Amino acid sequence: MVILVDQLNELIHLRRSTKPRLFNGTRIDDNIIWQILENANWAPNHGLTQPWRYKVFTDSGLEKLAYFQADLYKKLTPEEKFKPEKHERMKTNLLKSSHVVVICMERQKSEQILEIEEIEAVACSVQNMVLTAAAYQICSFWGSGGVTYTEELKEFLGLGEKDKCLGYLYLGYSDNPTTKSRRSPIQDKVEWFAENI
Ligand SMILES: Cc1cc2nc3c(=O)[nH]c(=O)nc-3n(C[C@H](O)[C@H](O)[C@H](O)COP(=O)(O)O)c2cc1C
Repeated sequence: MVILVDQLNELIHLRRSTKPRLFNGTRIDDNIIWQILENANWAPNHGLTQPWRYKVFTDSGLEKLAYFQADLYKKLTPEEKFKPEKHERMKTNLLKSSHVVVICMERQKSEQILEIEEIEAVACSVQNMVLTAAAYQICSFWGSGGVTYTEELKEFLGLGEKDKCLGYLYLGYSDNPTTKSRRSPIQDKVEWFAENI
């Protein structure tokens, strides 16, 4: 295997999150979506529980999810807190996307593996997806706002009681993809232990 280190480094640094409002509605080939999902499946996970479960919405499926979540937001939000622009955004963000992969964690039946580790494994698998998307010059955005953590969405998705929805991965193309982000230096976040410490 030839390891293309420079390309990997570049991919990791250049990957950005582009908000779905910047998507242009162009549809991604389903074969690419399957490649993204295939790579998701190769994430590390404790005990090989492979806890990631993905619900892919596109075409009329996206419309169904868009109207469901906008209606749910209206139902769950007290009148004084209701924001019409947010209600609208809950539809348009989905409808501008090509595919939305709803990120779910299926809890191991025996519950031997800690729940936090199941969630961590799903997050690793999402990183595989966003990097693959970036390699295809597809924009992605992991969003966990709105109705993500509601029981109603869990029911809509057919999740079990101990399973979790962890957000939406919005995928699409954009005429104006985000290119900038920032990070403070890694040196500020690392403590290095060696024999001379
Ligand atoms: C689990 C998770 C949930 C997120 N949820 C939201 C969200 O609801 N709204 C938002 O603006 N950004 C959210 N983000 C952050 C963005 O997806 C993005 O990573 C962040 O803006 C940094 O941009 P960059 O990835 O281009 O560096 C979330 C990120 C993660 C990992």
